[in-house]
Amino acid sequence: MALLEILEYPDPRLRKKAVTVEHVDKAIRRIVDDMLDTMYQAPGVGLAATQVNIHKRIIVIDVSDEKNSPLCLINPEILDFEGNAETEEGCLSVPGIFEMVERPEKIRVKAMDKHGESFEMAADGLLATCIQHEIDHLNGKVFVDYLSNFKQQRIRKKLGKQHKQAAKQKQLKTASAR
Ligand code: NI
Repeated sequence: MALLEILEYPDPRLRKKAVTVEHVDKAIRRIVDDMLDTMYQAPGVGLAATQVNIHKRIIVIDVSDEKNSPLCLINPEILDFEGNAETEEGCLSVPGIFEMVERPEKIRVKAMDKHGESFEMAADGLLATCIQHEIDHLNGKVFVDYLSNFKQQRIRKKLGKQHKQAAKQKQLKTASAR
């Protein structure tokens, strides 16, 4: 099991566009497994490779209550969408922030699984929201981008404070460990 470091907004690396996975091999499966470990440990319902500074089109999701239904989508593509739904979203890269975002309610998506097999699936509700949120990450987009400038500014300020506090705590820890 390997836990990967999750980049936090507004880290510029979250803006990189991920590239298509050409071959699903052992190295890709290893990334998928590490991403799942990282997502479950966080804990979160979804994680895009971009968030762990791996710029390949891979996302993992588990929206089940029991956390026993891992889903892996490699090179995910939305084929069709329908309706509109406003859902409260959060993100492991934007800790502690939850805001309403409007997106299509139902989607049809095409992807490859961790064995390189193509599949198509329909999704609605939380799963549809989550898939769209994670695909956005692969395109360098964060859910905060959908909010007003005022809200974006407020979020950057709040996270800036959190980062400073975390850095201070780390400093204290190292000092007392000496
Ligand atoms: Ni996210």
